Amino acid sequence: MPSTHRRKTYHSSTQRSQVFSVYIMSKVVLITGANSGVGFELARFIAEKGHIVYIGARNEDSGQKAVDMLHSEGFKTVKLVVIDITQPSIIKSARETIEENEGRLDVLVNNAGIALMDEDQSAVTPSMPAVREIIETNFYGTIETTVVFIPLLRKSTCTPVILNVSSSFGSNKQSQVDARAKFVGYRASKAAINSYTIALAMELKDEGFKVNSVTPGITATKMTHDIGQPVSAGGLAILPWALLDIEGPTGKFFGSDGKELPW
Ligand SMILES: NC(=O)c1ccc[n+]([C@@H]2O[C@H](COP(=O)([O-])OP(=O)(O)OC[C@H]3O[C@@H](n4cnc5c(N)ncnc54)[C@H](OP(=O)(O)O)[C@@H]3O)[C@@H](O)[C@H]2O)c1
Repeated sequence: MPSTHRRKTYHSSTQRSQVFSVYIMSKVVLITGANSGVGFELARFIAEKGHIVYIGARNEDSGQKAVDMLHSEGFKTVKLVVIDITQPSIIKSARETIEENEGRLDVLVNNAGIALMDEDQSAVTPSMPAVREIIETNFYGTIETTVVFIPLLRKSTCTPVILNVSSSFGSNKQSQVDARAKFVGYRASKAAINSYTIALAMELKDEGFKVNSVTPGITATKMTHDIGQPVSAGGLAILPWALLDIEGPTGKFFGSDGKELPW
């Protein structure tokens, strides 16, 4: 049933106004790559606030497990949508699913990504297939997903938000002082998506969109072979930027401490 057509019996005026305010404020959120890691934790935090959260997963079984886990914790507003950000036809069918169910999208979190940390990513001897695969997913896939979902975000009933999950490795300024970690494909993919954030924010500013990049900080997920801060801290770090309202910033890059990062 579309989220805008729910009916319920309210017993007191307080209860009615509380439910009404949740009803009015409830956002429809899509997080790509939310079957694991930072995206999964973010989904939990957003569901805790009563919003409708689509767990985007390229593997249906893995996505269903993530949804089942959050349902078992009581977060019944969590739903599954299959989306592989490198497959245009699957991105489009994910949009159709959300459009049919909700009629709109308020928040797109472009979280899905790969790092291929076990491949050679030195600037001198990189594995070119690895570099290509990373750029294909993190850059082209993120752009393609965004472009397909912009028409649905334009139907948002609040402030439309696009949040690109980037990395401090994507900060060219920071890379100049810390290039020891040789991740040229990953760094370039995130620097490129930062550049896209700037352009997109500018083009969508007059329509009231909030478009930003954020890094969760080094977080223990399968991407980092479980090195880093607890995964919930990564999800929490990006939460505020996913739920921005009309007063929020646009065209910025934020660190896990909430401060602005240099591009
Ligand atoms: N962990 C860190 O220290 C760190 C630091 C800075 C930025 N980040 C960024 O945070 C985001 C989340 O990463 P994570 O650390 O949570 O790693 P993760 O646990 O490996 O999560 C990555 C997610 O992206 C999905 N994914 C990969 N390729 C996809 C595709 N083509 N289509 C759809 N989904 C795809 C993965 O799906 P499968 O499960 O099917 O593989 C997984 O759900 C990434 O953008 C990453 O670059 C992470």
